[in-house]
Order: sequence, then structure tokens, then C-alpha cells
Amino acid sequence: MHSTITLLPGDGIGPEVVGCATEVLAAIAQRFGHSFDFHEALIGGAAIDATGDPLPDATLRACRESDAILLGAVGGPKWSDPNASVRPEQGLLKLRRELGLYANLRPVTVHPQLAELAPVKSDRLVGVDLLVVRELTGGIYFGEKRREGDVAVDVCSYSVAEVERVVRLAARLAGARKGRLTQVDKANVLETSRLWRQVTTRVVETEFPELQLEHQLVDSMAMHLIAKPAAYDVIVTENLFGDILTDEAGLLAGSLGLLPSASLGDGGPGVYEPIHGSAPDIAGQDKANPIGTILSAAMLLRWSLKLDAEARAIEAAVTAVLDAGLRTPDIAGDGPSVGTRAMTTAVLAEI
Ligand code: IPM
Ligand code: MG
Repeated sequence: MHSTITLLPGDGIGPEVVGCATEVLAAIAQRFGHSFDFHEALIGGAAIDATGDPLPDATLRACRESDAILLGAVGGPKWSDPNASVRPEQGLLKLRRELGLYANLRPVTVHPQLAELAPVKSDRLVGVDLLVVRELTGGIYFGEKRREGDVAVDVCSYSVAEVERVVRLAARLAGARKGRLTQVDKANVLETSRLWRQVTTRVVETEFPELQLEHQLVDSMAMHLIAKPAAYDVIVTENLFGDILTDEAGLLAGSLGLLPSASLGDGGPGVYEPIHGSAPDIAGQDKANPIGTILSAAMLLRWSLKLDAEARAIEAAVTAVLDAGLRTPDIAGDGPSVGTRAMTTAVLAEI
């Protein structure tokens, strides 16, 4: 198979981890007889420095013309003035919106050897296998924003159609897993949440009657995620709640550095990125964990290129190196660690 993949390294550790995942994709192409064309483009702070725009038109065009997009991270202290009118994060948000990537899939599993790193009792982590489906192009992130003297306003709005499409996707995924869907909102306070609850109930009852549907308020869900994470299968929620809950869920895995994500729309290329940020404090020091990005590359193969065996080959390679005890500093605890490069070399050797 021939595919075009746009690389958006971004800022901080982004270029290092995207470089590693690209090598892994190249190794997969070689082993399975595919040809992948990689094209690099600018996003985030790097794009602001070069062009003044966090998402230059040339980047958006390259993304639209490719089969899939692999992204590192955006942001850093250099561009973090909250009063600045141009910020790296705007590039990421615009990319999601322009490509119509309304569903963000964030799977969380716990490697048994890493369970002790999580700030949660290890016995509670047995059997954790969660998939958070976060709505990604609506809600308070994209509503009207304004200042009126001493008052600041951020509008949160959702339409029936916006809720339906992401709930349908989450429900389909739940059907292919353990058949349990948990919808998270704040329906005791927010009108948008009452809409989410109503629409989710209707979609599941009429189109996915075999699913077990549960509703949770976001505050109590934040607690349950730590207290009984193994009780959940697929969690679907709005943009802001999903952002918050997935950082929390990331703790269960032992490090945010391990976790991948996929952002999908209806057709068109998806964006694949680790859920961690740009970690400017360790950028360029061979300390970053490349696994979150490498596993994002596996999701890219599975979701955008429909290469499931190839995706599984990457996931198996990552499991094997973790089984063998290789640890980047974020997952080393008090033990010895290896660098970004050595971790990647080990994954490549497995492939
Ligand atoms: C994420 C990040 C982004 C978000 C930021 C960088 C805008 O936190 O992908 O989770 O809030 O969506
Ligand atoms: Mg976030």
C-alpha cells in the first residue's frame, strides 16, 4: 500500500518523538511491503517563529492532501504569554476544527509492570482497559469568547447533530469491546449537559439497544476513575470534560508519556498524537518517552490506513520492550533508565 503521511513535529520534545515514531513507521513499511511518503510541515510555536501563523495555509493544505497526520506537541514558555494574540495552541485547535475531527479516541491500558508507578493502589489497576471518546470540535473550546470590562465570557454550546455523531461513534466502539458506554456530563447544572443526556439516551436506545448505558456526573466520574477504573469500558463526553478526565486517566498508566490518541472525523485524514505536551524542560536531552507517539503511529495504521496487523505489530513490540524492563526516565522510578533513542532502537529491533 502507498500512503502519504504528514508529520507535524511542533515544539519541545515533539520533533524527537515524531522522529522516533517515523522510524517505526518506516520499519513497518519495510517489513510489510508498504511505501509511506513522509512530508514535514510547521505547526505551533515553530510555525509562529517561521511565519507568524500557528497553522500556516501550506500546513493545512499538506494535511488535507495526505492520508494521515502524525503530530508531536505544541507550546512552550517562549510563546506562553496569556495576553499574546497568537498562541501555538490555536494551531492545534484550528487543525482539529478545519479537518472536522470531532472524535478524539484516548485509550488507557496499564502495563502490569508499571502499575506500581501509578498514584493509585496497584490492585485497583488490574484489568483497566478504558477508551475515552472526547468530543473535539465543539463546546466551550469553540464558543464565542469575549471581554466586557471586568467580565469575561466563554460560551458553551452543542447541537443535537454534534452530540449524535460522536455518541454514535463511541457506541459503535463500545459494541466492539465490552458493550458498556458511560456518558459523562454535568446535567444537574448545565443545559448543554441535559441535551447530551437526552440525545445519548435516544441514540443508544434506538440504534444500540444491546449496549449497557450509564450516565455519570463529571465530578463523581473524576472520583470513580481513581477509585474503580476497571469498571469502565468506553466513556463519551464533551470537549472540556474529556480534556480533564483524560489527563487524570493518564495517571493510571503510570505516565502520560505512554498514551496515544487518534482524532477522527467522517472520512478525510485523522490526526494522531501523544496525549502529553511539549515538555520544554526536557526537550533535546534524549529523555522523552517516545512510546505515546509510537503507539499513536499504531493507531494511525489502524484507523486511517486500515492496516490492523501492522498496528498490532507495533503494539506487540512496545509491550515486548516494556516486558524486557526498558524504561525511559518518566517510568523508571528509582531504577536505571534509557534514553529516547535507545527505547526506539529496542522497539525497532522487535519489529
Ligand atoms: C490536549 C491539550 C489541548 C487541549 C491544548 C494543548 C489546547 O490539552 O490535546 O488535551 O486542551 O485540547
Ligand atoms: Mg489536554
